[in-house]
Amino acid sequence: MVSIFPTNAKRIDGELEIGGCRVSDIAARYGTPIFILDESDLKVRIGNWNSEFKVAFAQNSGQIYYAAKSFISVEVAKLINEAGIGVDVCTGGELAVVRAAKFPGERIEMHGNNKSEPEIAAAIDYRVGVIVLDSLQEIERVARIAHEKNRVQGVMLRLNPGVEAHTHEYIATAHEDVKFGFSISSGAAWDALLAVVKHESLQLLGAHCHIGSQIFAVDAFKASALRLIEFLARYKSEFGNELESLNIGGGVGIAYTESDKPMNAKEFLANVKEAINSESARAGIITPKISIEPGRALIGPSMVTLYTVGTTKEVQLKDGATRLYVSVDGGMSDNIRTSLYGAVYSAEIANRESNAKLRDCRIVGKHCETGDIVINSINLPSDIAPGDLIAVPATGAYGRSMASNYNHVPRPGVISVVNGTARTIIRSETEADLLALDVVEAPQRLSKESN
Ligand code: LLP
Repeated sequence: MVSIFPTNAKRIDGELEIGGCRVSDIAARYGTPIFILDESDLKVRIGNWNSEFKVAFAQNSGQIYYAAKSFISVEVAKLINEAGIGVDVCTGGELAVVRAAKFPGERIEMHGNNKSEPEIAAAIDYRVGVIVLDSLQEIERVARIAHEKNRVQGVMLRLNPGVEAHTHEYIATAHEDVKFGFSISSGAAWDALLAVVKHESLQLLGAHCHIGSQIFAVDAFKASALRLIEFLARYKSEFGNELESLNIGGGVGIAYTESDKPMNAKEFLANVKEAINSESARAGIITPKISIEPGRALIGPSMVTLYTVGTTKEVQLKDGATRLYVSVDGGMSDNIRTSLYGAVYSAEIANRESNAKLRDCRIVGKHCETGDIVINSINLPSDIAPGDLIAVPATGAYGRSMASNYNHVPRPGVISVVNGTARTIIRSETEADLLALDVVEAPQRLSKESN
C-alpha cells in the first residue's frame, strides 16, 4: 500500500479496506462515486498539527484555523471544534455550516475579498473572533455595521507581501497582480492600516497573508512572514504600541503521488518559528502571536474517492502506441483539479489485486468534454475491466468542496469510516435534488414604471 492512502487503509485478501470497511461493501451500500473519509486519520493529523504548533510557538501560539473551503460539513466542523482548533470561513455558506455545528464564534475567522453586507452582519452577530479585511470599502462597511450593532470587531488586514510561491498560477495569491490583499510595497497596506485605526468599532489585531497553495518549499512562507514583521515594526515605530498577531495563512503542500515530498508539521513549524523569532528580534518587536490556516494539509490525505469503471477503450496514438481510456462514473464534477490546475493524482484498482502487465491508461470521467480527465497518464494492470472499483487517494481537499452538477450529474456524498463502521456525513445527491431547483413561477412585475 502506498503511503498516500490514509493511515487506516490496507489490503485484505487483495481488496482495499479503509477504516475497516471493504470497498466492495461501501460500493454496494452507498454506490459510487463516493468520497470516503478515514475519520481517525483526520483526527490524528489535526491532533498532531495542533500539538506541534503549541510546542513550536509555546506562549506566542495563536490559533490553527482549519480552512473550511478545502472541505466542510457539519460533522467535520464538530470534529474540528472538539480538536480545539479554529476554523476559517470565507462565505456566509461556510459560516452557516459551522454555525450549525455550534462552533464557538471566538474561534472563527472570516475571510473573503468581497463579503456581502449580510455576510458581514452574520459574522458580527455570531461574534466571530476575527474578520480579515481585504479592501478599503470593506473597512468602512465592517466599521459601520459593527458600529450599528454597538460592537467592537476584531479585525486583521490581509496583506500582500509580494512573494512568488512556486505553485500553479491560479492558486498562487501573493505576487502583486492579484485580487487579494493590500500590497505592502505600494503603500496600500499602510493606507489601509490608517483607515482601520480611525474606527472605534474596529480593533486591529495584526497582519495576515496567504501566499498560495500546494507549496513544498518553506522559503516562501519565511519570506512573507519577514515582510509582515517589517510592517508590524513600522506600526510600533509610528504608534508606540504593538500589534499582537501575525497569521501566515495556509498552503502547505501534500503528496498526491509518490513523487511528491511534502514537509511534515514539525519540520514546517520549526522552520517558520526560527525565521519569525529571529526576524522579530532583529526588528525590535515582541514576537507576535502566530496563527496558520492549513486546509489541504489537514483534510487532503484523509479522503479517497471510489469510482466504478464503466467502459474501457483502446485508442491508437500517432506513434503507433496505444492508450487505454478507462471511463469512471464521476469525473470533472467531483474532481475539477486535474483540468483546472493540471493536478496529478494516482489511483489503484481497489476491489482486487492483479498481476497483469501494467499499461498506460488515462482515467476519464463521464462528462461530455474531452478535458474531463481524472488522471492523464497512469500505469494500471492491463486486465482492468468494467465493474472494477478504482480508488483515488488524497482527494479530501478541494474535491467535494469544488464539485459541480455539470451535465446534471448529482454530486457524490461523503461517508466516514471508523473501525469497520460507515456513516454518511454528506448524502449523495439524487436526480430529485437536481429537479427540486426547477420551478415554474408566475411572471412578476419588477417595477411600477415598466407597465
Ligand atoms: N487561508 C486562505 C486565506 C486561503 O485563501 C486558503 C486557500 C487557505 C487558507 C487554505 O489553503 P490550503 O492550506 O488548503 O492550501 N482550489 C485550489 C486551492 C485554492 C485555495 C484557496 N485558498 C486547489 O484545489 O488546489
